[in-house]
Amino acid sequence: MRIAIDCDEAGLPLKPVLADHLRAQGVAVTDLNYQQDHPVDYPDVGYHLARRVAAGEFDRGILICGTGLGMAMIANKVPGVWAGTCHDTFSAERLKKSNDANVLTLGARVIGPELAKTIVTAWVQSEFAGGGSTAKVQRLRELERTECGRA
Ligand code: RB5
Repeated sequence: MRIAIDCDEAGLPLKPVLADHLRAQGVAVTDLNYQQDHPVDYPDVGYHLARRVAAGEFDRGILICGTGLGMAMIANKVPGVWAGTCHDTFSAERLKKSNDANVLTLGARVIGPELAKTIVTAWVQSEFAGGGSTAKVQRLRELERTECGRA
């Protein structure tokens, strides 16, 4: 699994902790480090990662800001990206198993590194479960295709 990770200034302490944690589990993690060359805030960081996930360059993405909220808001504007903010492991599992999200967002000012590690592991180790969720996820995608973007 190819995972991209990035953050704004609020997520800087947590990003390497999570990247190293996933690499230790054998996950291929690429730190996009968009802010290094671009003096931008979370909207541009999140948009950049989401575009690269949508393009198929990565299977999934992890975005970290202060709350996780701004990153989810911008990532969800990119067609083909489904992002959710999780600060507990149950939600992180459901985000993949029920919602088939390809981007997880976290708030570095909301949770500590140990909980964040268990959350990313729960999400990365989960796969879409199908079953009763299939029609709902298909409807999400259909609405994105046919209705979203209209005034
Ligand atoms: C800090 O820039 C803060 O606004 C940001 O990290 C994030 O929490 C926004 O959603």
